[in-house]
Amino acid sequence: MKNVLITGGAGFIGSNFVRYLLETEPGVRIVNLDLLTYAGRPENLQDLPDPARHLFVQGDICDRALVDRLLREHTIDTIVHFAAETHVDRSILGPGQFVQTNIVGTFTLLEAARQYWIVEKSLPLEAVRFHHVSTDEVFGSLKPGEPAWTEETPYAPNSPYAASKASSDHLVRSYHHTYGLPATISNCSNNYGPRQFPEKLIPLMILNATTGKPLPVYGDGQQIRDWLYVEDHCEAISLIVRKGRVGQTYNIGGDNQPPNIQIIHTICDILDELQPQSPHTPHEKLITPVADRPGHDRRYDMDIHKINAELGWKPRQTLHDGLLHTVNWYLTHPDWVASVSGNSEYKAWVEQNYTKRGESGK
Ligand code: NAD
Ligand code: TYD
Repeated sequence: MKNVLITGGAGFIGSNFVRYLLETEPGVRIVNLDLLTYAGRPENLQDLPDPARHLFVQGDICDRALVDRLLREHTIDTIVHFAAETHVDRSILGPGQFVQTNIVGTFTLLEAARQYWIVEKSLPLEAVRFHHVSTDEVFGSLKPGEPAWTEETPYAPNSPYAASKASSDHLVRSYHHTYGLPATISNCSNNYGPRQFPEKLIPLMILNATTGKPLPVYGDGQQIRDWLYVEDHCEAISLIVRKGRVGQTYNIGGDNQPPNIQIIHTICDILDELQPQSPHTPHEKLITPVADRPGHDRRYDMDIHKINAELGWKPRQTLHDGLLHTVNWYLTHPDWVASVSGNSEYKAWVEQNYTKRGESGK
């Protein structure tokens, strides 16, 4: 890993990964290709460690000519592919962009890599890697008592987001199987931590609670996700890129599965402790049941034995400490919060997804 193309590196996990790589890999140069959609934030790339080794390029992963040029100009040997449309609720209201970015975009990157690395033999195949970052949502939903998903579990995606990611995973797999592209895939559970866009559960709850807005719980709040602190995810990806076996997929997860309502109560408790003088304390009085998400997956759970046995990875951060860090980060970055949530696009999203949503049971 010398010259790395990171796609989606202005988003939540991508920008944390850019930082992680600059801190842990002193020899690496990064080209960061990001379209800067609503979720891609230049603010996420401020104050990078060693910024001279990071080049930001605003552009679309579906732009084949641009991707071709970047691979050649920077002699890219490693692609770590994060760029995607990522929010399930947006995929329900508008699935078309998910098909374009997640499926066509991944196909475009695969074709460009195949041409440059395999057809043109620009670099030794042992020295190149395409790593595709994916989600546990490709596996569908677990019933109570069913065992956690392994790398062998058949895909059963339920939302347009999950289906588009499943589709892109299959394309990556096929490029390894058919063309010998040195590829790896990771399927990770729900991430949280600094710089997550406040459309997702945890940052939305933190920002709404600190400003005294309702905390919207979909349905009965008993849905279960597995939660992983973002830096733990970055470490796992870095290990897979450096030491994972080509052609393999690895599950990544946080080894904890609280129901959503418990996450929300924990955030409220942390805020009560940190801000006892707030007019919104106790924050749990803001909890408001709202209409459920259509097709809402009930339970996710990841079996992470493979990555632990092969690469020695396990999550470092406990859920409580990770949440405490995260709440503290949002409280101490008011400029980031104002810039990301103060604009008209974000307000329009809140209006569309919440104001028009209706109450629980309607
Ligand atoms: P995000 O929504 O915060 O960021 C996505 C980034 O991709 C943004 O910077 C956006 O500008 C960029 N992007 C979108 N379309 C693009 C295009 N056509 N060309 C170039 N850039 C484009 O997403 P995230 O939460 O950081 O997720 C990153 C990856 O990790 C995704 O592939 C997602 O499926 C996967 N993942 C996320 C989670 C999670 O909990 N957030 C969990 C598992 C896997
Ligand atoms: P989210 O952060 O959107 O991630 P995903 O749907 O990809 O798992 O949602 C996490 C869980 O929280 C999910 O069960 C839906 C629920 N949720 C709410 O109850 N209220 C909300 O306002 C949001 C955004 C999510």
